Amino acid sequence: MAIFLDTGKIEEIEKLMKMGIVRGVTTNPTILLNSGVTGGKEAIKKRSIEIANLIKPYPLSVEVTTNDPQGMIEQAREFSQWAVNINVKITIHGPNGELDNLETVHELESKHDVRVNVTAMMSAQQCFLAAMAGATFVSLFGGRVNNMGYNACGEIRKLRKLLDGFSLKTKIIIGSTREILNVIEWLEAGAHIVTVAPKFLEGMIVHPFSKETVQQFLRDAKKTEDELKT
Ligand code: E4P
Repeated sequence: MAIFLDTGKIEEIEKLMKMGIVRGVTTNPTILLNSGVTGGKEAIKKRSIEIANLIKPYPLSVEVTTNDPQGMIEQAREFSQWAVNINVKITIHGPNGELDNLETVHELESKHDVRVNVTAMMSAQQCFLAAMAGATFVSLFGGRVNNMGYNACGEIRKLRKLLDGFSLKTKIIIGSTREILNVIEWLEAGAHIVTVAPKFLEGMIVHPFSKETVQQFLRDAKKTEDELKT
């Protein structure tokens, strides 16, 4: 799996998918808004179907827009019908720490055959419990963790050890990338997937010395052609 794209912009997804380096896409309401999606659920549906078709069979995460338990179940069941490769994001708890969400996750995974990505998590212990509830994916926000002053790599190592030790099928997604360095360090720490803002992937590819080397090769190739003419 390795690399997912953290964007809702079609042109960015198209460009990087064509390179063969992307294995999925994640969105959330903030990402969709910043990707020009306005117009409520119908607009989310339209963009989500467009992305899902573009990346199939790879997975797309779409987040529910409510924290009402019944509303989350209804939306999750609906969103997962938009395309076979859509999984649904549910936050680990409500805006004030309400505890309904893991029950919702468990019900969706065990009774309704909906694949859930439990999101907005800042620690291995949150992710472990979400995995126990049956989540297909757990999303740890690595950049936000680092910004709180503890290292996301430590949380990832602990979490991977727990998931493997208890033979849990859940895949770890690390999001909230802040630096190019995060991608490899988080994969190396044990994440199954890092979801990356497109600008960081482009930054991983381009290196000033590679540029200089390519320029040298092209310059010398031109000189060989020039010498043929003389
Ligand atoms: C990923 O699934 C998250 O929604 C996302 O990476 C959050 O990133 P942010 O911390 O930049 O909002």
